[in-house]
Amino acid sequence: MQIELSRVDPSRSPQDRLRPDRLRSDCPVLLSQRLVMRAPHEEDIDALAHLANNAAVATMVSRMPHPYTARDAADFVRRTNAGEIGKCVYAITKAENGEFLGCCALEPHVNDADTLEIGYWLGEPHWNRGYATEAAHALIDMAFRTRDIAHIDARCRVTNIASRRVIQKCGFQFQGSGMVGSLAMGGMMPVEWFRLDRKTWMSLKSWGEMR
Ligand SMILES: CC(C)(COP(=O)(O)OP(=O)(O)OC[C@H]1O[C@@H](n2cnc3c(N)ncnc32)[C@H](O)[C@@H]1OP(=O)(O)O)[C@@H](O)C(=O)NCCC(=O)NCCS
Repeated sequence: MQIELSRVDPSRSPQDRLRPDRLRSDCPVLLSQRLVMRAPHEEDIDALAHLANNAAVATMVSRMPHPYTARDAADFVRRTNAGEIGKCVYAITKAENGEFLGCCALEPHVNDADTLEIGYWLGEPHWNRGYATEAAHALIDMAFRTRDIAHIDARCRVTNIASRRVIQKCGFQFQGSGMVGSLAMGGMMPVEWFRLDRKTWMSLKSWGEMR
């Protein structure tokens, strides 16, 4: 684990290694009505460690350890900025005061260059205020506007009512079910798979009608 964390990608120029923001040139800061989404910072570590150390969050996502320590949070921020955890990982923050609320991300599909996968989580005190839907809308809009992709996929645990609702409010359509590994659960969990294709997104551009 430590070896992997300290490994330097030799394909990157020295400038890229010194300026992690260069790696995010295709992951612009995203603004929405109430949110700013930007690269995770060191200043997020305390809030990240506090909010992520919650089984109700960790057991709904695939790669969050539980318990979650300040060291896990520091590793996450460092690895994110080094481009080791996907390219487009965002901290979701409140526009009015910069408060860290959670994270969202877009990941390339392993075998399909036409597809990205969206993921998100919010700290429990911030649930049910529409933040995840607002963040997902901004991320999806950015992805379809700036990338030559045909689909965005989303997966949630079959028991995850809130995430399924977010997925529905973004216009995704059910594709099937399967199993995904979960670090916090220590095994596989049953999930539902949803997909939003570009044509559907274009016809839903007026997101307000979906809320
Ligand atoms: C899933 C999650 C991101 C949703 O965040 P959020 O900001 O609360 O989501 P939103 O407020 O945008 O939407 C939640 C929707 O679910 C609904 N909902 C939440 N709990 C519900 C429940 N128990 N029964 C029915 N509906 C529920 C809310 O009412 C809302 O729908 P509405 O706008 O139609 O009223 C958040 O709960 C979370 O981080 N959970 C843990 C991690 C996780 O599940 N991540 C997603 C992995 S796929």
